[in-house]
Amino acid sequence: MAPAIRPPETAQALPREAYLSQEHFQKELERIFYSTWQYAGHVSEFPTTGSYKRFAVGDVDLLLVRAGDGAINALHNVCRHRGAQLVSDGTGTCKRALTCHYHGWAYNHDGSLRGAPKMGGDFDKTQFGLKRAHTEIWNGCVFVHLGDQPPTPVRESLAEVVWPYADLDRAKVAEVATHEVETNWKICWENALECYHCAINHPELVRVFDQDGDAGGADGGDDYVYFVNPLLGDSLSVTLSGNLESKVLFECTTPLDEARGFFQWHTSTFEMVASPDCVAVMTYTPLAPNRTRITQTFLVPEKAEAGTDYDPGTLFELHKLAREQDNQLCTSVQKGVTNPAYVPGPFNDIYEVENLRFLDVYWKLMGDTSDLF
Ligand code: FES
Ligand code: FE
Repeated sequence: MAPAIRPPETAQALPREAYLSQEHFQKELERIFYSTWQYAGHVSEFPTTGSYKRFAVGDVDLLLVRAGDGAINALHNVCRHRGAQLVSDGTGTCKRALTCHYHGWAYNHDGSLRGAPKMGGDFDKTQFGLKRAHTEIWNGCVFVHLGDQPPTPVRESLAEVVWPYADLDRAKVAEVATHEVETNWKICWENALECYHCAINHPELVRVFDQDGDAGGADGGDDYVYFVNPLLGDSLSVTLSGNLESKVLFECTTPLDEARGFFQWHTSTFEMVASPDCVAVMTYTPLAPNRTRITQTFLVPEKAEAGTDYDPGTLFELHKLAREQDNQLCTSVQKGVTNPAYVPGPFNDIYEVENLRFLDVYWKLMGDTSDLF
């Protein structure tokens, strides 16, 4: 195999084709989204046996299902008879079995085939369980991996992350905000990796976030970054006031002003902005070369009650506002890179260092792309 090629200058943005080409997009699905751990949800989204949630990326459609033994199984949402999609809604509960609407084959919560009407005495049900993907839970976050081979465990990849929220696995989803944006997924991610744009685009955010601040904390090598969120002055949370806006906080294992985490895992294309009162999880799901679904999931401690302990309008307001501002920026960049006049420009070597690290990981995962450029 020919050696992997990369852009001639790594200290610059990606070539135009990387944002526009359908062929390149397909390779990204295969080499990144079908081949690395992806965040799929939080354990609290599976409260009872039979609770399920869909996870779809590219052509892949998985069903994550809570089984009677407590495990969360990732099952391909395709019937082993003639291939019908088993479930078409996003979330729900199937108490006893997943039953195919076409001819009635029924599957247990672990994917094994439970019954197949009138298939005869010789039919071996054990051969027709639903296909499975790998799952792993890290601090209550459910990850899936679509590869055939057992992947490196999440806990091993993230062994050095000292996560300061002892009870994130007992959090609950307070709200989910979904945005479909006319932009390539990498443009979203590149935007999230730097705050060079903050001063002129996020006037509210920079009142609490120190874009020039030294981000202390652990730095996890090439594949991810975790650091203490440099907030200004006495700010403790990513809220408009900078104050904690909930009476119920996560159980923090460090002083509150060190428990402001910012975590980006480059290969998993998800990030968390964590404050003692709210952990916001962002995912960037590619829909097409020029279209991305951005999901913001707001996790709060399980005992925090909306309206009593916090006002959702206040607690999540700055996160949502900054997201809307970033969506505009990402749309604008997609328009720009679509213009044939676009050529990659240089990164700022102080403020856009993480962009370089992301591209290192990106090219490592993409491998040989000489067929594409
Ligand atoms: Fe599912 Fe026939 S396709 S039972
Ligand atoms: Fe931004």
